[in-house]
Amino acid sequence: MRTVISDSQLAYERKIMQEVAELNAARPTSPKAMVDTYGCQQNEADSEKIRGMLREMGYEFTSDESEADVVVMNTCAVREHAEQRVYGNVGALTHTKKANPNQKIVICGCMAQQQSVADKLRESYRHVDIVFGPHALWRFPEFLKKVLTVGGRVFEITPSDGAIAEGIPQVRDGSVKAWLSVMYGCNNFCTYCIVPYVRGRERSRTPEDILAEARGLVEAGYKDITLLGQNVNSYGKDLGTGVDFADILREVCAIPGDFIVRFMTSHPKDATEKLFKTMAENPKCAHHIHLPFQSGSDRILRAMNRRYDRAKYLDLVHKAREYMPDVVLTSDVIVGFPGETEEDFADTLSLVEEVEYDALFTFIYSKRPGTPAAEYPDPATREMKQMRFDLLVKLQNMISERKHADYVGRTVRVLIDGVDGEYLTSRTNGGRLVRVKGGERMIGEFADVKITGSNTWALYGELV
Ligand code: SAH
Ligand code: SF4
Ligand code: F3S
Repeated sequence: MRTVISDSQLAYERKIMQEVAELNAARPTSPKAMVDTYGCQQNEADSEKIRGMLREMGYEFTSDESEADVVVMNTCAVREHAEQRVYGNVGALTHTKKANPNQKIVICGCMAQQQSVADKLRESYRHVDIVFGPHALWRFPEFLKKVLTVGGRVFEITPSDGAIAEGIPQVRDGSVKAWLSVMYGCNNFCTYCIVPYVRGRERSRTPEDILAEARGLVEAGYKDITLLGQNVNSYGKDLGTGVDFADILREVCAIPGDFIVRFMTSHPKDATEKLFKTMAENPKCAHHIHLPFQSGSDRILRAMNRRYDRAKYLDLVHKAREYMPDVVLTSDVIVGFPGETEEDFADTLSLVEEVEYDALFTFIYSKRPGTPAAEYPDPATREMKQMRFDLLVKLQNMISERKHADYVGRTVRVLIDGVDGEYLTSRTNGGRLVRVKGGERMIGEFADVKITGSNTWALYGELV
């Protein structure tokens, strides 16, 4: 079910933002907030909304928690390691709060949506003032006002299928690249994954809302727009209007202006030929597909509930390359899923060799309590998994290095997006990192670059 937060509910939150702004305006100096983001691009996009609400409420931003009046940690639950980092950093905030007892500490995001985490924060992290999950993001002003004026603590993690809240203010991170969510949530329930439990069901924004935001971004000068969803290929199924993701992609590309459109992530079970055709036909669409395969073994793919097999996956890769011979392919893969044998892992290696990805995001399986796979027998030891992981990374590094070396001598068009030490950083249409020498005023411009060098992770070039 697609639930939309009503205008009157949103107006109520806007009124509260104004009230908090008035409270803050009475202070001798503007209060400061720090927002720390863990996890994926969805969380980055949510943090831009948190900053937007904070700015409306009169906050300026700092990256130093010791001078922050409000500290927000927007957390990720996808792997145990991400959660451990958050607990470590929340623990460290006892010191900043001792120095500044009025500091308000907010833990939100996917990790906070889990009951066990909220309980632990309630019992053992008593300096935390506000805890809420992704479903309650739009109510942040109300929670903050309560702890500022009434005091006490707020916990809001009611389980929900999720809703859509439009019109939340945003403070974007950069001026060149922007995230644009087309849908929220996930219905796929891969057996290892926590995301469907904390992000709710799939729900699509309307084409009108998406296109209005996209036009706004282009007018504001953004040059690289990434359409976001856990599985963009199921965009529109809940709208019942027949508009699918390829249609949205085409319409965003049709907005006048010089910019690039990307998207993440595509689930192989519903990637279509229509999508590849649309990508090939629209020059503004990056020739890059992030198509997570997770495992090369059909047995493991079944146990993961991925609903495609190796043959179907490889068929998609071939189709994508037929439409776009220059397509950049990247993927996610999990090593050491419960029950993965040496043979299963050999299938993963052979798939990587066969596809030859440009880059790969490799993860060791992390047990997520509450997911089906957490109950599966898992005889492989941590050492065995680490050895498999190292082998896979070594193989991919060789492939990435070779693919990058093929660029040397070619001239490619890049978008310059930042500085890193003595280099400007830029991205090719397919999203590969190119370091070039040049002046900072070029940030936000497209340029032709002759590739002169390469390694596993990046290309090096000279402005033409
Ligand atoms: N919706 C995206 C993935 C989001 S999570 C998709 O399906 O493509 C990003 C990646 O984290 C996943 O693709 C998977 O490779 C990895 N991941 C998710 N749960 C994990 C777990 N329990 N252990 C290890 N890696 C995991
Ligand atoms: Fe997780 Fe699978 Fe949904 Fe991706 S598609 S978010 S891996 S359940
Ligand atoms: Fe993203 Fe982590 Fe949540 S990967 S959706 S922030 S669990």
